[in-house]
Amino acid sequence: MQTSQGNGRDAWATRAGFVLAAVGSAVGLGNMWRFSYVAAEGGGAAFVLLYLGFVAFIGMPIMTSELVVGRMTQVSPVQAVKQLGGPAWGPLGVLFAFCGFGILSYYSVIAGWTMRYSLDALRGAIPADPTGAANYFGSVGTGMPAIITHVLFMVLTILIVVRGIKKGLERAAVILMPLLFFILVGLALWATTLSGGGAGYAYYLKPQFGELFDPTIITDAAGQAFFSLSLGMGAIMTYASYLKTKTNLAKETVTIAVSDFGVAFIAGLFVFPIIFHFGIEDAIGLGGAIADNTVGTLFIAIPPALLSLPIGQWIVAAFFVMLFFAALTSAISLLEVVVTAVIDSWGWERRKAAMVFGAGILLAGIPSAFNLNFLDFADKLVGNLFLILGGLLISILVGYRARDRADAELAQGLPNANLRQAWAGFVRYVAPPVLLVVFFFTIPKVWTVFKTLVGMN
Ligand code: PFF
Repeated sequence: MQTSQGNGRDAWATRAGFVLAAVGSAVGLGNMWRFSYVAAEGGGAAFVLLYLGFVAFIGMPIMTSELVVGRMTQVSPVQAVKQLGGPAWGPLGVLFAFCGFGILSYYSVIAGWTMRYSLDALRGAIPADPTGAANYFGSVGTGMPAIITHVLFMVLTILIVVRGIKKGLERAAVILMPLLFFILVGLALWATTLSGGGAGYAYYLKPQFGELFDPTIITDAAGQAFFSLSLGMGAIMTYASYLKTKTNLAKETVTIAVSDFGVAFIAGLFVFPIIFHFGIEDAIGLGGAIADNTVGTLFIAIPPALLSLPIGQWIVAAFFVMLFFAALTSAISLLEVVVTAVIDSWGWERRKAAMVFGAGILLAGIPSAFNLNFLDFADKLVGNLFLILGGLLISILVGYRARDRADAELAQGLPNANLRQAWAGFVRYVAPPVLLVVFFFTIPKVWTVFKTLVGMN
């Protein structure tokens, strides 16, 4: 996927390799694990509609901005923001690397669950009844079992990043991503046959219009758009910095965003009917009764549903194996942001940077593996609030500080001045005010989760 260039920096061999890697970064646990639990918390359909709005009107312009900055500067995000904005912008690069570090620390714990579920599905060790599945999640999702799978997943991620992104992974992704897609479509079709699923569709697809103005749901939708599209922390920027060819970056944006939204949307089309069919709203917090923490939604809902099928065990295994691969391609991009920053700023070797910082991330993930409330807190603080902040600052940097250079870069591949003007309009006038408001409304949400964590609630 990557070959070394004359200047010693990696570069994509093909446009397809780049697009695939960027889609691989975007499509991950966020599309299924995070999307289903945040949508469940946030009122279903109203959330989905707002989420789509954020993807289209804020996410896509910011993604193009990140692509433009990466390709224009050809350096790590930490250097890129300084190059464009001056030394005062240095801390933004540090924020990016901090986000990569922080998100991967708990992301790896969840990815570890997918490993455990894959193996246990093959062994026939996952209970088929909903209560049993909830208990099973309770026993493997935290504590020592979770630490073990977290460590395994981190080691794997580190190994891949140490080697640079090799052909093997690209080949695997070419096969696995379409397979993931077909299985998802298959599951969504199967879900249409479930009795009682209608309530699930209604919840997922019929917005309560009053909820469209609920600040909590609006901020959830914004945060989810950033997390799912891998925006606000320089991941897409990093991949674009390995890009040599002057392709149309607006087109790449559409490809990445549409794939990402499509996968999340289809996942919802089977997760919600399943939840209502099995009457497990309570277990995931929808009924408001049992769960004070909904991060396990997908892991509790999917197995009992699929195990009711004749070859259910195999489908559960296939589902979690694919989720594992989707998580792996995202985790690689998270670690890559940290590693390129360290290579560029301190001149470390790739191997050393990946091993030392990978080990740090591994340790930082341990609290999340012991306490789901900590995981939830880390996700709200770094995976939500900080990504919004990162996105806000990127829009100011690209929309104001580096406006002309950014426009000239985008023009290579996108000669249409009207389209570029529309893009600039969103980056300058829509993203900054909206993200500023979202940022301030997100703070109390983080605070609430923090209070739960420290037992103040
Ligand atoms: N987009 C990934 C997902 O949806 O699972 C997570 C992620 C990857 C977020 C890379 C941020 C990032 F920079």
